[in-house]
Amino acid sequence: MGHNSFGDKVTITTFGESHGAAVGLIMDGLQPGLPLDLDFIQKEMDRRRPGGNSLGTPRKEDDKIEILSGVYEGIITGTPLTIIVENTNQKSKDYSNISEVFRPGHADFTYTHKYGIRDPRGGGRSSGRETLARVAAGAISKLYLNRANIICEAATIQIGNIKVSQSECNWDERTSNELYCPNNAKAEEMRNLINDLREKGDSIGGIIECRIKGLPVGLGDPVFDKVEALLAHAIMSIGATKGFEIGEGFNAATLTGSQNNDEINSEGFITNHAGGTLGGITSGQDIIFRVAFKPTPSISLSQKTIDKNNNNTEITIKGRHDPCICPRAVVVVEAMSSIVILNLMKEISLEDK
Ligand SMILES: Cc1cc2nc3c(=O)[nH]c(=O)nc-3n(C[C@H](O)[C@H](O)[C@H](O)COP(=O)(O)O)c2cc1C
Repeated sequence: MGHNSFGDKVTITTFGESHGAAVGLIMDGLQPGLPLDLDFIQKEMDRRRPGGNSLGTPRKEDDKIEILSGVYEGIITGTPLTIIVENTNQKSKDYSNISEVFRPGHADFTYTHKYGIRDPRGGGRSSGRETLARVAAGAISKLYLNRANIICEAATIQIGNIKVSQSECNWDERTSNELYCPNNAKAEEMRNLINDLREKGDSIGGIIECRIKGLPVGLGDPVFDKVEALLAHAIMSIGATKGFEIGEGFNAATLTGSQNNDEINSEGFITNHAGGTLGGITSGQDIIFRVAFKPTPSISLSQKTIDKNNNNTEITIKGRHDPCICPRAVVVVEAMSSIVILNLMKEISLEDK
């Protein structure tokens, strides 16, 4: 099995299964000399942690990071940087009923057909827990990007049919509620919806918007490595993602050229319908993209499925699952975006931006 790594100049490799000994990260290609801010990395991990807010799964994990290599006296050495997080709160018996039966909406059916062997405990390699290694890599990427004043922030702008429109969006409010929603009143509506569905044993999807500020002109290439293509790859590699759009995105199909073009004057672009990229290359404007997450596949309502011998059956999923993935995925979206931008920034000196 390949493809446990991502990135070309700065590579990340994630390893571990949800209920194995640990989940971890190897990050290679880092510029030596940067202090590793452990508090910042741990805070980023805590943003993703299960049990970290009232909306998620009741599963409590500490997600304490342990550095195994690549750091000496608090400074990144440039050798492969390895981080692990021990799995301390496994309840594998919760998953005994899914080892032979495929959960609708999860990876079980395809994974079993392709590889023949699968660790069913907690979703194994296809668990949302794998993303903690991405968040560690994203936090380290942010440490480098922050030096170049590049900021990557995401927010939950829609849960089910509850949407924050552009006029209702107050970006600063995203840090004052556990949903990372840029409107506290809408966050309350979203919270009620999520809790309602949790009580019914169901789940719900949503949309996360990400904004990357402080970018130079010139990141990305015109053909296969367009900056939006690299971002789409990174973002759609996160579990449960179902859509990616940049700038006007799908709405661009409804606009005329005169509405959609970003006119330019001597002070710069007048609008940003493009979402910060033209011809695959950053324009110096903010990159703005959105990603749709499907409802959490593991739900406790009864659903039709088959077992591995193709017998019809029904499944009711036990275990502890998030009724909505978005609140915990916000930091994962920021992480994957930061890793992409750090790779592109490797083409130019961070100091020379
Ligand atoms: C942060 C995060 C947390 C997740 N938590 C759960 C969960 O508790 N239960 C679940 O069934 N799926 C969860 N998922 C989604 C599954 O990992 C994902 O749906 C599954 O791997 C199938 O992949 P696909 O949805 O991309 O087809 C989570 C995903 C992320 C990114």
